Amino acid sequence: MNYNDLITKAVQTHFLSKDELVCLLSDTSCSDALFNAADTVRRQYVGDQIHLRGLIEFSNICRNNCCYCGLRRDNHKLTRYRLTEDEIFALAEHAATDLGLKTIVLQSGEGLYFDQKRMCHIIKKIKTLDVALTLSIGEKTLSEYQAYKNAGANRFLLRIETTNKDLYHRLDPGMSWQARKQCLDDLRLAGLEVGTGIMVGLPGQDIASMADDILFFKDIKADMIGIGPFIPHPDTPLAGNSGGTLDLSLKVMALTRLLLPDINIPATTAMEALAPSGQLKALQSGANVIMPNVTLNDYRKFYDLYPGKSSTNVSPDNSLAALRDKIASIGRSIATDYGFHQKKV
Ligand code: 5AD
Ligand code: SF4
Repeated sequence: MNYNDLITKAVQTHFLSKDELVCLLSDTSCSDALFNAADTVRRQYVGDQIHLRGLIEFSNICRNNCCYCGLRRDNHKLTRYRLTEDEIFALAEHAATDLGLKTIVLQSGEGLYFDQKRMCHIIKKIKTLDVALTLSIGEKTLSEYQAYKNAGANRFLLRIETTNKDLYHRLDPGMSWQARKQCLDDLRLAGLEVGTGIMVGLPGQDIASMADDILFFKDIKADMIGIGPFIPHPDTPLAGNSGGTLDLSLKVMALTRLLLPDINIPATTAMEALAPSGQLKALQSGANVIMPNVTLNDYRKFYDLYPGKSSTNVSPDNSLAALRDKIASIGRSIATDYGFHQKKV
């Protein structure tokens, strides 16, 4: 089949084999056709409204040592911080009440201070604000996930990063791919919406493994998928490597939209870090979510996952008002509901 036939098949059936995915991912001439198809399917299944999720990066302290990430524990150049519970709540209140955001995302490295008791306390307090609440705080036990759910959390983000187990074990020393997969299963069992995702362009990651990644998203029936290019960080072991491209990241994202047509897909900050219009391009290639950062500027620069991340976020372009204008400029509007995954397939 030529690429147009494959795209038509994906639009109509929401299924492609691994070989077919590999064929589209390696074809350098099909990007625009793929982006347009994903844009059409996005409109059909989740509509023109964009969901804004207010992101609070409440601590950059992490016990893990992921080779790609600026927050890894061996990066001693980084100033570490942890917000107080009052500071976290004040940010959430500002986002909900003044900015009108309907979802709050609490994200942190894997630190030990915010244990189950402290997290549940914060969750309960934020849930008084009439918002949906997403957590992105790493690998926990099933009973912790259940406790968060009981406290009022609605969703959880935990990227699988790659489904290539050897690559995962090389890049995430001391961690286990199987344990991470178990966490995704446990999140589902706990009744939370499950968000996962990958980086594109990791050293040693090939097209075939990205095809596996997309099939994995479908297999675990993910509610949300975040995809971003890998961007090398100078203070990590991967400093000398080349990063992922915007085009390939968008292609993986567009194919994810075609195969999982009704899920939530963010236009990620890493895409914007690679190109000034990266997020807008993503919104026109299958994405329907943006996660504006509502953390105070003083701390943002320390949540340094990869270069270009915090500077992107503090630029006036990325302020909420500018974001609203950008969204209007492509004929889209901002949703006023919580933006849960509404299953349609
Ligand atoms: N480039 C792009 N994304 C990164 N992440 C961590 N480090 C990098 C990097 N150098 C992503 C990972 C992680 C999420 C919080 O940030 O996918 O799950
Ligand atoms: Fe920690 Fe997450 Fe960075 Fe890994 S990717 S070092 S777990 S913050």
